[in-house]
Amino acid sequence: MAILQLASLNKYLWKYKFRLFIGIACIFLSNFFLVEIPNDVGRTVDYALKIASKTPNINTLNWIAVLQLPDTKVLLWEIVQIFKHTFLQGIFLFITRQTIIVTSRKIEYDLKNEMYAHYQDLDANFFKMNNTGDLMSRITEDVNRVRDYLGPSFMYLVNIAFLLPMVIYKMYSLNSTLMFYVLLPFPILSLSVFYVNNLIDKRSEVIQSKLSDLTTMAQETFSGIRVIKSFVREKSMRNLFEKDCEDYKEKSLRLTRIDALWFPLITLLIGISNVLTLYIGGKLYMNGVITYGVIIKFMMFVNVVTFPVSSLGWVTSMIIRAGTSLKRINVFMKTIPAIISGSKKVNLRNDGIEFKNVNFTYPETGIQALKNISFLIPPAEKWAIVGRTGCGKSTLAELLFRRYDPNDGEITIGAVSMKEIDLNYFRSQIGYTPQEVFLFSDTIANNILFGANDETVNRENLMEQAAKMASIHEEIMALPNGYQTMVGERGITLSGGQKQRISIARALISQPFLVVLDDCLSAVDTQTENFILRQLDTFLQHKTSLVITHRIFSLQDFDQILMMEKGEIVEQGTHQTLLSMQGKYYEMYMQQQKETLEEQSN
Ligand SMILES: Nc1ncnc2c1ncn2[C@@H]1O[C@H](COP(=O)(O)OP(=O)(O)OP(=O)(O)O)[C@@H](O)[C@H]1O
Ligand SMILES: [Mg+2]
Repeated sequence: MAILQLASLNKYLWKYKFRLFIGIACIFLSNFFLVEIPNDVGRTVDYALKIASKTPNINTLNWIAVLQLPDTKVLLWEIVQIFKHTFLQGIFLFITRQTIIVTSRKIEYDLKNEMYAHYQDLDANFFKMNNTGDLMSRITEDVNRVRDYLGPSFMYLVNIAFLLPMVIYKMYSLNSTLMFYVLLPFPILSLSVFYVNNLIDKRSEVIQSKLSDLTTMAQETFSGIRVIKSFVREKSMRNLFEKDCEDYKEKSLRLTRIDALWFPLITLLIGISNVLTLYIGGKLYMNGVITYGVIIKFMMFVNVVTFPVSSLGWVTSMIIRAGTSLKRINVFMKTIPAIISGSKKVNLRNDGIEFKNVNFTYPETGIQALKNISFLIPPAEKWAIVGRTGCGKSTLAELLFRRYDPNDGEITIGAVSMKEIDLNYFRSQIGYTPQEVFLFSDTIANNILFGANDETVNRENLMEQAAKMASIHEEIMALPNGYQTMVGERGITLSGGQKQRISIARALISQPFLVVLDDCLSAVDTQTENFILRQLDTFLQHKTSLVITHRIFSLQDFDQILMMEKGEIVEQGTHQTLLSMQGKYYEMYMQQQKETLEEQSN
């Protein structure tokens, strides 16, 4: 049962036990005063009637004379009681909300942070298997439902647990027969609200998913507007959208019909209860069993419990929903990350990186991307990986900083196996530019500084230095706002090559010992690439570097080059030795040279 999942919230409830205790105490006090009000009013009415019957000429007296009657003082005191109890009830209700609703917000905050931290611990595969929308809805919508349970539902539940016995007790001590009839419609009220509410929920859910379809569609249209326009697909897209909208409208109307039933239903049942009070109460009054005021008390009690009892159905379905949501959340929270950091600290300045017979197959596609890879990069060497598209270069780089673990074989840093090392410490020594550049919708400065360690001093200088090394400084300075220019959604659009170089600057700013550049110069021309690589040379002098590229020209002075094909290393050596081997590398080199010559002659 999903509801059982709610037990996992107990640790949070315990954390805020003091606040909750005050909240619960206030619910009790608020109800304690609330149930006094009907009694006060009933008593006042009875007393007023008594005064009237004792004073036959009361109709002829003006109000000053009425106020001077000896009994009036007592009557006024009764009225003061009504005010007093209403006021106290209100005060405690206020504190209740301040404590319980606030607690639910605090728990929501804790839960969101915990989930976010857990998301970040999970491995690449997890994010591949679950789509972003799903991850988002768990951290927003599902958490909201849990919060609704901890806030309003919890409050109403405790409220009714106090209020109902109090009211029943009060009614019982007034007249048990009348109590029985008055309360008769209430279970029906509660059950029907539960039923209607479930219908509402089901229909809302359908609408919700329809709405998310619509949003996704609109979003895709906006981000893909260039493609849509160039393929002249505006009309067909509009038709699709219209159809979805129509569907959404239909479903919304269905909900409205049910929604419209809700309120009349409650009113009807309360009406029945009131009629019963008047009818049965009237009879008892005429038989002299009860006073006039008792009827009034009962009518008021009915109104006091109406909302809590009808909300019981609503609260129940809210709790069920919270249970389901929490179940979805817990599935994620219980997912154990496939990559768990070890604790050994390795220093890339002293230790080389070794791949020993590494095999790797992508779990979800079954594609074997690396076959029997072995090599050793000693510290402070410049290495390169070349090979045709899809041969496994990026995969190799990702294994290097442990985004995945190999299926067979081992990766070691110095003598330490990758699985034993402290990943945060290890990764903080690496500057990596992924093949797919990702820039945040933020300023250029913040995008570059993202790579800096938090404790770095002199950040601005380092940033400019890194940008210069990546040969992007001048271009940034030429922008109207320089480094403060916004990029991404609401900022300027940078060219592919500019984005790549900003990404390089981000990788270099932390002064890493190991630099891994994955095809990060593919969008710049050969000359610029050469220029950047030469510039990097000075920076990379006493550092280890691994450059992944398609172009061979720039590789003249690399210490080692790995030539890959279909997941395997087929050749290895310096530029000169590889050329003299006249193998695959030579073939690729000649082909590229021919292409360049052809380009130049055109
Ligand atoms: N995340 C992934 N999930 C499943 N398969 C993948 C994934 N990434 C890559 N592959 C597959 O693994 C193989 C190697 O891909 P990889 O990206 O390492 O090649 P690459 O040499 O970097 O290519 P390119 O030069 O085009 O960047 C390819 O067959 C690819 O389809
Ligand atoms: Mg790649």
